Amino acid sequence: MCGIVGYIGQKDATPIVLNGLKRLEYRGYDSAGLAILENGQIEVRRDAGKLERLASLVQESPLHGQVGIGHTRWATHGEPNAHNAHPHLGMTGDVVLVHNGIVENYLDLKEELKEEGVVFNSETDTEVIIHLVERYLGAGRTLEEAVRAALLHLRGAHGIVVLSKDEPDKIVAARMGNAGGVVIGVGDGEMYIASDLPAILEHTRDMVFLESRQMAVVTRSGVKVSTLEGQELLHEVQTVSWDPVSAEKGEYRHFMHKEIHEQVRSLTDTIAGRVDFDHGRINLPKLNLTPELAERIERIYIVACGTAAYAGMVGKVLIERIARVPVEVDIGSEFRYRDPIVDENTVALAISQSGETADTLAALEEARQKGATLWSIVNAIGSQAMRVADGFISMQVGPEIGVASTKAYTAPLVDLYMLAVHLAELRGVINEWERKGLVADLRLVPDLAGRCLDREAEIEKVAQALVEVRSALYLGRGVNMPTAYEGALKLKEISYIHAEGYPAGEMKHGPIALIDADMPVVVVAPRDPWYEKMFSQIEQAKARGGRVIAVATEGDERIPPIADHVLWVPETPWMLSPVTTVIPLQILAYHIAALRGLDIDQPRNLAKSVTVE
Ligand code: G6P
Repeated sequence: MCGIVGYIGQKDATPIVLNGLKRLEYRGYDSAGLAILENGQIEVRRDAGKLERLASLVQESPLHGQVGIGHTRWATHGEPNAHNAHPHLGMTGDVVLVHNGIVENYLDLKEELKEEGVVFNSETDTEVIIHLVERYLGAGRTLEEAVRAALLHLRGAHGIVVLSKDEPDKIVAARMGNAGGVVIGVGDGEMYIASDLPAILEHTRDMVFLESRQMAVVTRSGVKVSTLEGQELLHEVQTVSWDPVSAEKGEYRHFMHKEIHEQVRSLTDTIAGRVDFDHGRINLPKLNLTPELAERIERIYIVACGTAAYAGMVGKVLIERIARVPVEVDIGSEFRYRDPIVDENTVALAISQSGETADTLAALEEARQKGATLWSIVNAIGSQAMRVADGFISMQVGPEIGVASTKAYTAPLVDLYMLAVHLAELRGVINEWERKGLVADLRLVPDLAGRCLDREAEIEKVAQALVEVRSALYLGRGVNMPTAYEGALKLKEISYIHAEGYPAGEMKHGPIALIDADMPVVVVAPRDPWYEKMFSQIEQAKARGGRVIAVATEGDERIPPIADHVLWVPETPWMLSPVTTVIPLQILAYHIAALRGLDIDQPRNLAKSVTVE
């Protein structure tokens, strides 16, 4: 996961930046770099590999200065090497930048800049930003104005930090969307900048958090915050707790809320390093999926519990549809007691945030004994589900602390999609054109998730209307049937409201009897291939006096007149739509529970990691 650190003050910036990066190491990265303003010049050191490599570069050729920025990178566009590592310099070498996020429209911007004579030094999407900044500096603007003008060209979610040798007493930082936070640590005659609190907590507890579409001009003595449109804002300095766990919560009241908001970044990191957008290829080296194995797989059992099992149900639709391999989803606790049909042409794929869930591990063990190949999609590095597997995909979402899983639900959806595309290619069941289309769609995911988050205030209003309900029914179909299950699970876990997820087509076989004015029905009805069916479901619920809360695609004009509330999601390629449709349901559950004043991060009777049968 990309990390950013910056410093401006009286001390030597190099060790501060290197230390800060070290504190973000747990997030994972494949290259690192830093830039220091030394005697009026910008000096950069960067390379592929770990921070030790960067530290030895700095040792061989030391850097001294009181202003600096650094970055750890997970490759998205361009492989991990020194050219692609951040910081990125402009053509003149007078400005330098570090960036978190994906510039969705970078190809268009790159073409435009090339026509203006810009020569690119890397394969990254990031590099377009610094050249845009340089374009506006060349037109006589200040660094702040140039960054502002550059950002207005970018699509996607971004956190950026920029330095200029011509304005050596400031660092400009900006945040657009939720590609990760930008936080400014306030010191005495010195200031710190970071993507994540742990990078700077050893120096200060006084923080200014940038919101989306805000910029900060940071000098030794203070910070000026403004909107991207240039309006200056009064900013609040928040003092974070000394307790390291609470400190991590930063600006959020609950970890669950923080983790919901981290999804733009976790989804960026999920595709980082795995997707070659230029050739339309997926790269999952740790999965150990050989062409020989791809050919002989006859069946995949996805084994998982709770939220992870619902992610698996989406995976079933994706893998069957894209790679044409039969998939069964088994709840971990069921698999081992029913003598499943498993042989050496079977893959058992565990999905687990903790990698330590006893029932999931037992299912893997059962499959191992019957000769299956074991894979896992797992978040906790070094956990059992990672170690026992023949191949794995690591989730790249960082620690998830809230008991109700959120970011560890959406990441495996994307992992399963990538796995399906990769498997399909090796089995020769999709052509290049289809593959490239599926891969290209991945680039949209982080920003689409961000657009769901932008609607939080509307969703909170719906939560106010539902705070007193005693029961709720969630309906979904096809690739979004598991979204209904997961939405219902979120609500029951943290708000203690009874909620049931149901395949919409089954409503007529029972649950329809429950519908009356007291039973809210949450209908997941985005524009996917099941849309018409879901629409008639809404009509049926309304005809029985039900209160309908619909998850619908922006621009849908048919649903608002018949639904009581609409939770909008942006238009999303249907196979990736479960990533966006679940986000409003996470937010809805969160706000209902928050309004009820409950212990959201540690709901009664639940554990984050269930290591007993
Ligand atoms: C517990 C957690 C759930 C989680 C499930 C599986 O029940 O409360 O949020 O989905 O375990 O956990 P895992 O770590 O295997 O994903």
